[in-house]
Amino acid sequence: MTVPPTPTPADPAGASHVPVLLAECLEGLAVGPGGRYIDGTLGGGGHTETILQKSAPDGQVLGLDADPAALRRVGERLAEPIAQGRLLLAHTAFERMAEVAAQHNFAPVDGILLDLGLSSFQLETPERGFAFTHDGPLDMRFDPTSGESASELLNWMDEVAIADIIYRYGEERMSRRIAKAIVEQRPIATTGQLAALVERAVGGRKGQRIHPATRTFQALRIAVNDELGQLERVLVQALALLKPGGRLAVISFHSLEDRIVKVWMREESRDYVPDPTSIYGGHDREPTLALLTKGPLVASPEEAARNPRSRSAKLRIAEKK
Ligand SMILES: C[S@@+](CC[C@H](N)C(=O)[O-])C[C@H]1O[C@@H](n2cnc3c(N)ncnc32)[C@H](O)[C@@H]1O
Repeated sequence: MTVPPTPTPADPAGASHVPVLLAECLEGLAVGPGGRYIDGTLGGGGHTETILQKSAPDGQVLGLDADPAALRRVGERLAEPIAQGRLLLAHTAFERMAEVAAQHNFAPVDGILLDLGLSSFQLETPERGFAFTHDGPLDMRFDPTSGESASELLNWMDEVAIADIIYRYGEERMSRRIAKAIVEQRPIATTGQLAALVERAVGGRKGQRIHPATRTFQALRIAVNDELGQLERVLVQALALLKPGGRLAVISFHSLEDRIVKVWMREESRDYVPDPTSIYGGHDREPTLALLTKGPLVASPEEAARNPRSRSAKLRIAEKK
């Protein structure tokens, strides 16, 4: 009989993370026996576990996560492939992917996966401060051992900068009102305090489908973790780490991330670079990537019904030339 692990604050009872677009990722990454893969966003290890199964008996995964709690959990759950040397774990932000892969002598690789954003474990753990639905400290860091929490950030930034973050990363029209209320009422220490403040600032729920604080919480999370900057920096490294013919799969959950991936993949797959300042109009070049998805892959109606998280997921896949 297996004994269920004791729930701790970092591992709430009943929380589980269901990997999204799993079959599409495995097919897109062309996972097969003996392959080497990097999972830049290990999370609950759902994708990694299946990659290990599909690449058996001797395929390997290097799994990265900024969150020490995610690594601890996967370390326990996937102890066997770790003992076999098939799964290596590293506590790091994925913007250090190239450096960490070099440290582990883990390049070049056959495939790299990025499943961006936060896991259900993080969302459902009040102490992590990601959710307006649970009261907890306003933290929001993927890595609680480094950097500034959302509360710290809000407590020193000026009103214009706070409004900018909420507008740009949350696409929130009432960003100025919200920033004004934050500055008037700070220090803001808890998620509950911020959620209530935003709700009052925008004049209540007014029959909206989503909670009025949804966009503000998303914006702060993106800013606290420099999510867009991290993504821009890792794409270049991923390309360098892949073998020719190696695959990159990226799942994003909001339009700002997806746009970065889309534009970068498109640029890398072009065989011509326009130059408006030149009378020759640009130059030909060898593309570095081939696009395997013209538009993004999205969840099937069945997956969307089974796993609501998958509804906003967009998967783009490219192959290194
Ligand atoms: C959506 S979850 C991944 C879930 C995973 N694919 C699974 O099937 O269980 C995203 C994970 O990536 C981590 N993460 C997000 N941004 C990161 C970054 N810049 N560097 C490292 N880890 C990051 C988060 O801590 C979280 O655990």
